[in-house]
Amino acid sequence: YGTMVTNAAGHLAIGGVDTLDLAKEYGTPLFVYDTALIKQRIQAFKEVFEAAHVAYKITYASKAFAAVAMYQLIAKAGIGCDIVSGGELYTAQQAGFPMAEVTFHGNNKTAAEIEQAIAAGVGTIVVDNFSEIELLDDLLAKANKTAAILLRISPGISAHTHEYIMTGQEDSKFGFDLKSGQATQAFLEVEKRDRLHLLGIHCHIGSQIFETNGFEMAAEALVQLLAQWHQKTGFDAQVMNLGGGFGVRYTADDQPLAPQDYVKDIVADVQGKMAEQGLKMPAIWIEPGRSMVAEAGTTLYTIGTRKDLPGIRNYLAVDGGMGDNIRPALYQAKYDTFLAGQPEAEPTQKVTVVGKYCESGDILAYDQQLPATQPGDILAMPTTGAYGYAMASNYNRNPRPAVVFVENGHAALVVKRESYANLVQLDQTLPENF
Ligand code: LLP
Repeated sequence: YGTMVTNAAGHLAIGGVDTLDLAKEYGTPLFVYDTALIKQRIQAFKEVFEAAHVAYKITYASKAFAAVAMYQLIAKAGIGCDIVSGGELYTAQQAGFPMAEVTFHGNNKTAAEIEQAIAAGVGTIVVDNFSEIELLDDLLAKANKTAAILLRISPGISAHTHEYIMTGQEDSKFGFDLKSGQATQAFLEVEKRDRLHLLGIHCHIGSQIFETNGFEMAAEALVQLLAQWHQKTGFDAQVMNLGGGFGVRYTADDQPLAPQDYVKDIVADVQGKMAEQGLKMPAIWIEPGRSMVAEAGTTLYTIGTRKDLPGIRNYLAVDGGMGDNIRPALYQAKYDTFLAGQPEAEPTQKVTVVGKYCESGDILAYDQQLPATQPGDILAMPTTGAYGYAMASNYNRNPRPAVVFVENGHAALVVKRESYANLVQLDQTLPENF
């Protein structure tokens, strides 16, 4: 799992740092990121493109985990990022992220967000729908600027994943529908407008995908579409953005390809298809989120109470839960857990790990085989680096956890733990006339 190892003391270590020391120093629940693994992933993606001799751009889908230090890490690694809100844009700006390397997504970008992006000099805007073509054009006119854009296409492909994280199917809120001809209609609209500089097309078929054939079907649809556009106006796309979605290993049962191997297959496939059509090969862009950070992240919890129901279930409660990881409750996501102080001890009990939130659905992991546990022991849950902290909430007025980066035996706090004072800092007292 990620890069967890057992150290000389017999404890779980991440990035050369003992997880028990991390828990002691920073408290729990705690998100720990092994930044070396993130860098390795980026390098592996780059190498695939270099080997295929194809122009490319890698943008990190920052919705998976966004924080100032994360944008800085990504910038240092020399890749771009994609953002989906004014808040992510603001955070990237605070981090000093190069705005030319930012791609702006979203099915309902507000006028204020688009103006913010134009003023910031965001490199690429992915246009999602007809209203946005007009809105963007108007706002560019107001600012006397132009913008490089991609058109988001909904190719009508159903990737095999949880319904809530499927995005490319026909009945979707995202993008221009391909089958009904909306995509081509959008292309013709954009070609009429001088301020919109069309780089090419985008599609993202879903997330946590394990098979390459969904990507291949999407690529086929996009290549066909580009062939039609070429025939109509001579248009040659400079960019084909195939989104993210590469699956990762959450539990021992998951067997995804290495993330870069999805990309390898996709690139070879697009090269073949473009050549078949006699079209110029565009640059391939990808925007992985989960595969970049999920396995690099581990959550550390402190074990508290238990409730044993003989013959039914043993509940073991930890000091976090659905507020720091909503994925089990929302997507029936599965995780494994390890006792950080004794990761290799023989299991002697089967427990269901639950959180401290006031909801029966606050279950983090069913049927975990663990050695004997005591209150105060540290439990490690790997592969929580994507859509964990990013989707955290203050439900039940629990403060959100801290986040640390670890590498080469040292740790750095990159997001502080929320305080109770933080929890009320936006609250106002009740006016007397209420
Ligand atoms: N590009 C676009 C346009 C996207 O919508 C997404 C994810 C990505 C890239 C990155 O996909 P990834 O490589 O991370 O699979 N909260 C859900 C996942 C939602 C994904 C939304 N879009 C979860 O926890 O599983």
